[in-house]
Amino acid sequence: MIKVRGLTKTFRGRGNTVQAVNGVDLDVAEGEIVGFLGPNGAGKTTTLRMLSTLLRPTSGEAMVAGCDLLDDPAGVRLRIGYVGQGNGAGADQRVGEELITQARLYGMTRAAARQRVDELLTRYELQGMAGRTVRTLSGGQRRRLDIVMGVLHRPPLVFLDEPSAALDPQSRSNLWQHISSLRDEHGSTIFLTTHYLDEVDALCERILVIDGGRIITEGTPDGLKGEISGDLVTLEPADPAAAAASAEQLPGAREVTVDGATVSFRVSHGDTAAPELMRTLEAAGNPVRAVQIKRPTLDDVFLTLTGRSLRDADANPEPGQGE
Ligand SMILES: Nc1ncnc2c1ncn2[C@@H]1O[C@H](COP(=O)(O)OP(=O)(O)OP(=O)(O)O)[C@@H](O)[C@H]1O
Ligand SMILES: [Mg+2]
Repeated sequence: MIKVRGLTKTFRGRGNTVQAVNGVDLDVAEGEIVGFLGPNGAGKTTTLRMLSTLLRPTSGEAMVAGCDLLDDPAGVRLRIGYVGQGNGAGADQRVGEELITQARLYGMTRAAARQRVDELLTRYELQGMAGRTVRTLSGGQRRRLDIVMGVLHRPPLVFLDEPSAALDPQSRSNLWQHISSLRDEHGSTIFLTTHYLDEVDALCERILVIDGGRIITEGTPDGLKGEISGDLVTLEPADPAAAAASAEQLPGAREVTVDGATVSFRVSHGDTAAPELMRTLEAAGNPVRAVQIKRPTLDDVFLTLTGRSLRDADANPEPGQGE
């Protein structure tokens, strides 16, 4: 559904040049829900805007929804939905009129447009809102309206830029259900940017992590946590030094440390490695009093890869981001 090679975007201003996207390669298969994750200023929005034809790449090539991004941007536009970081609908517009106008722009007859709009307002829990002006909607309703605008023409591929930013936890999980059902009921491919790690865990089957305009890793959320950071296993054995020596022998065990009465180490699959080690220790007359297995977060993964925390980056948003 998406195939990108060597995509770059350089912004040249007076006296300063920003290499916002720096040689991105990525592939997304039909029907996947892929999360594009990275700190502020990493190049997520710039990549998304290029892939949705809103911004011309400096170099590189891409096939998007079966069309060549550079040769056939109109074809791409017909086959994608784009839900931007800001709000799509004009604040003073009436919800129903705005949607019908939009649907007519896609070539629907007035009757077909009305029917499609009614259907979507119901599906996205916006029934009864058609006569309201956009500014009177709550944050969550407004974000759902943005999605309705993005999917009016039944695009097979939907780009969402930080869909749940600034929503309360309940509205966010409600939105995630709507996004999942886009794929589950309509087979849509979803490519979304986020820096919410819970959003990734709840929604994304695969993630791409971008930092400084480059993809630094990709994989399934669980796979990356296991392979890159590993589970942190902490044991309280009768003889910590002997237990540490046994832990060193476990395949894939790393960072084995003894701290007083406890031994800790990292391993890809703590849930199988810890019982195995405990059986070995038990048989050697070194019983374990307590065990704890801590799954890493995606922030741990980012920290392992870059030495920085995604959260630190979030706390210092760059000026001039977005539009
Ligand atoms: N129109 C522009 N002119 C100059 N620089 C830009 C422009 N748009 C983006 N940038 C810069 O490009 C870099 C990447 O920005 P981008 O908006 O893609 O980041 P992002 O990953 O979406 O960040 P955020 O999480 O804050 O939304 C930043 O350094 C940004 O300041
Ligand atoms: Mg952005």
